[in-house]
Amino acid sequence: MTQGCGAISRRDVLKTSAAGAAIASSLGTGNVAMAQAEPSAPPTAAVRMKVNGKQISLTLDTRTTLLDTLREHLKLTGTKKGCDHGQCGACTVIVNGRRINSCLTLAVMHEGDEVTTIEGLGSVGDLHPMQAAFVEHDGYQCGYCTPGQICSAVAVLEEIRAGIPSHVTEDIGAAPGMTTLEMRERMSGNICRCGAYSNIAEAMAQVAGVKA
Ligand code: FES
Ligand code: FES
Repeated sequence: MTQGCGAISRRDVLKTSAAGAAIASSLGTGNVAMAQAEPSAPPTAAVRMKVNGKQISLTLDTRTTLLDTLREHLKLTGTKKGCDHGQCGACTVIVNGRRINSCLTLAVMHEGDEVTTIEGLGSVGDLHPMQAAFVEHDGYQCGYCTPGQICSAVAVLEEIRAGIPSHVTEDIGAAPGMTTLEMRERMSGNICRCGAYSNIAEAMAQVAGVKA
């Protein structure tokens, strides 16, 4: 419907909108094309570390986590990615004797470090005592959290032996006892959705030589 002199018809409005949309769309396409024409290469860096006793050298995108380095670059898929946010412990590995969440650390931060994953603790024919104890005590069900649990469990016993206090250590001036309370507290960062906790505690107690 055309209105009075100087007024704009509905058809004119629609035509103008369509033209505007076409221009905006073509401008948008142009911007994308420009962005694609100038990709910026990700920054890379060389990193050397010893993984399960073997010296490795890689050139990595500096944003690559230790977890992705192990799984994607070194094909050590025993270490699991659960939350990728430091909340579940599935990605726990031992670095220079201490357990860490490998999803929360960049590979380039570990130049010269010694990394031990579940593959480095033992093998099917030669299990680490903690791996054997997990089997004996049914310390897993689906097994997804198990590599992280075992790495953590091995490091936890070393932490207690080294006299490092925890949240439940009553006298932080004295050496913490090798108790199930200390072990359970220190394992609290490793979540098991299957709920195998009591069996894990029994396995750890056996390796530590104490009563669960
Ligand atoms: S995957 Fe690293 S803490 Fe969950
Ligand atoms: S055994 Fe299944 S999540 Fe721990």
